[in-house]
Amino acid sequence: MVNSGLCILSDKVKHDSSQPNLVDAFGRKIDYIRLSITDRCDFRCVYCMGENMTFLPRDEVLSLEECARLVKVFVSFGVSKVRITGGEPLVRKNAIQLFEEIGQLQGLRELVITTNGSQLEHHAFALKQAGVRRINISLDSLDAARFRQITRVADLDKVLRGIAAAKQTGFENIKLNALLMRGINDDEALHLAAFAIENGFDISFIEEMPLGAVSHSRQSSYVSNEETLKLLRARYDLVSSNETTGGPARYWRIPNSKTKIGFISPNSHNFCEACNRVRISCKGELFLCLGQENKVDLRPILRAYPHDDKPLKQAIIRGLQTKPKGHDFDLKRAAPAVIRFMSHTGG
Ligand code: 5AD
Ligand code: SF4
Repeated sequence: MVNSGLCILSDKVKHDSSQPNLVDAFGRKIDYIRLSITDRCDFRCVYCMGENMTFLPRDEVLSLEECARLVKVFVSFGVSKVRITGGEPLVRKNAIQLFEEIGQLQGLRELVITTNGSQLEHHAFALKQAGVRRINISLDSLDAARFRQITRVADLDKVLRGIAAAKQTGFENIKLNALLMRGINDDEALHLAAFAIENGFDISFIEEMPLGAVSHSRQSSYVSNEETLKLLRARYDLVSSNETTGGPARYWRIPNSKTKIGFISPNSHNFCEACNRVRISCKGELFLCLGQENKVDLRPILRAYPHDDKPLKQAIIRGLQTKPKGHDFDLKRAAPAVIRFMSHTGG
């Protein structure tokens, strides 16, 4: 493996108590960042990408050293949870080294990843060793032909082997993320839930969000979580749970099973008052809200001041004051609410 020279985090970083926590203009404390480390992906999911995507040139994407530096700064501000996303984070060369670096940060409570599972067969163990205890894997169908239709290119068997490898590795928690689309996989909620229960995984159903221009009508493909919940309640005794991660998910427990069922409903519920997170794109843009355009471009600051974190910290604090009160997704609008794709911002 090529040595990327990632060593800037060797001094143990923890929350610097002389620094303020990140609190926005509405009094929300930000203690969770989601960092996209690549816009690339080996899949082309129809709800996520166009058929022909142009990806960013390399120098526009943060280096792994820059990613590590950013995470270090956020942890010094009291951020205790970091999710690495993409695109598909595990297609980024040397991604595991970044996990190893971040995994050593003392102030960090949780290091997690969202992945499509395609590379897990090879990387599950290394992720665990690096300190990842929980892992989210996208899985929209258990039927190979449909899986291919949704992802345009992917091989279900490979993903299932990746999921099996993750299970065998013994993560504290594995959560599946499923997005149902009308007429494509809307009849798979029960099957996917049964698969999760059998394996002791959690599962969350995600409503499709109007991010980026895609080739189908989002209004006609939309399946509400209300509908999915109704279907599942007819089969399982679901017990409502008040667990929350500060995000748009609501959870239900199944008695006598490890499985928690989540519903991520960005379209139908307003969860913004409790929002505890910001996103950083692979270009180093700090997005204050998934559904709004407000951002701060951190890359020029990172590059102009390679050895001085002060300007970066000031830009983050200033940017946080512009975090919007909430998003305004509306599926009935013809144009996407936000032009950028999820693979750019990070899921
Ligand atoms: N709406 C909702 N979820 C999306 N994802 C990607 N694009 C969208 C969208 N438009 C989700 C996928 C995957 C995660 C990484 O992002 O379902 O689980
Ligand atoms: Fe890749 Fe995930 Fe987007 Fe699918 S949803 S194309 S797996 S980034």
